[in-house]
Amino acid sequence: MKWTMLLPLALLAVGSEVSASDAHREAFGKLPDGTAVEAVTLTNHRGMSARVLAWGAILQKLVVPGKNGPGDVVLGYDTMDGYLKAPNYFGATVGRYANRIAKGRFTLDGKEYKLAINDGPNALHGGRKGFDKQLWTIAKVTSGRDSASVTFTRTSPDGEEGYPGTMQLSATFTLTENNELQVDYRATTDKPTIANITNHSYFNLAGPASGRSATELVVTMPAASYTPVGTTLIPTGEIRSVAGTPFDFRTPRRVADRVRDGRDEQIRIGRGYDHNWVVTKAPTPSVHLMARVKDPVSGRVMDVLSNQPGVQFYTGNFLDGTAVGKGGTIYRQGDGLCFEPQVFPDTPNQPAFGSARVEPGQTYENRIVYRFSTAK
Ligand code: GLA
Repeated sequence: MKWTMLLPLALLAVGSEVSASDAHREAFGKLPDGTAVEAVTLTNHRGMSARVLAWGAILQKLVVPGKNGPGDVVLGYDTMDGYLKAPNYFGATVGRYANRIAKGRFTLDGKEYKLAINDGPNALHGGRKGFDKQLWTIAKVTSGRDSASVTFTRTSPDGEEGYPGTMQLSATFTLTENNELQVDYRATTDKPTIANITNHSYFNLAGPASGRSATELVVTMPAASYTPVGTTLIPTGEIRSVAGTPFDFRTPRRVADRVRDGRDEQIRIGRGYDHNWVVTKAPTPSVHLMARVKDPVSGRVMDVLSNQPGVQFYTGNFLDGTAVGKGGTIYRQGDGLCFEPQVFPDTPNQPAFGSARVEPGQTYENRIVYRFSTAK
């Protein structure tokens, strides 16, 4: 056989090599005590890349193609300094319990647990030093034909921030050649406990440096109801229909159309949207669609899917221009949209919301998929 006959085969081999997704590990910065913080960048061959930090398992950068080229679509910082000084949960992995627990108290098997109070009278996002303010271990980095991934692990000790049980945690970020970033949060425990682990990325599909507010984006959410809140943002317990309110996103709506509608008391309390939409009754075996976001200018479209029952839609209402983010851009109210798949806020105190309980032998799992495409 002539060597030229082997050429197509050789090209095939080279081709598959070239089309493999890539994972690249590098230094990102240092903690005040000198500990190094590494980052892993996942890159595919369809124009996407994602950089995730070992600090807080934070999604620091997410480059997504658009009609006029690629752009970074998440808020965050260029250096560790920003994440340490004004974290704002930018891109962060939050837990053990994302969102609020009323007065930082809950009861499990007759015993009351007291959590750190860090948001008015309530506990928020896992406490003073939640999962977002911890160094995770880079346990596994993979790259292959269809995807590249990084897995971070961490042991959350018994009693950390007041929560019972030692938890073994993992956070896996997978970038696929289908332009999906999949985030898998898993946790096991040695004692009954509670968990609600999610990602707190602020998205602006226009690109946060574009000067366009994320409230210009068009959002669709299939949920027919949401959980209204009291003045400290704890759900009242009511499950309210979105029909006829600014909370109805069942047909595509520009966020700006109603985010300032002060005729609605819930918009006033939240200073915009900062509420949990009720997508399903309980976690589902596979993922379901929670939200679709579209930027009419860049054509970027993002679908958010998860197996969780609720999604917190937060319009960055507390961003006040004091955080100087990537490229020296200051972040103002409405500059990013958060879609946080979760069990409903304060579930441990609201039996009608279901359960956040995790038993020994059981694996807690929140699978989140951010799926990107470009509309013409
Ligand atoms: C969540 C909460 C908000 C706020 C942000 C972080 O989305 O619901 O009230 O705390 O996190 O700033």
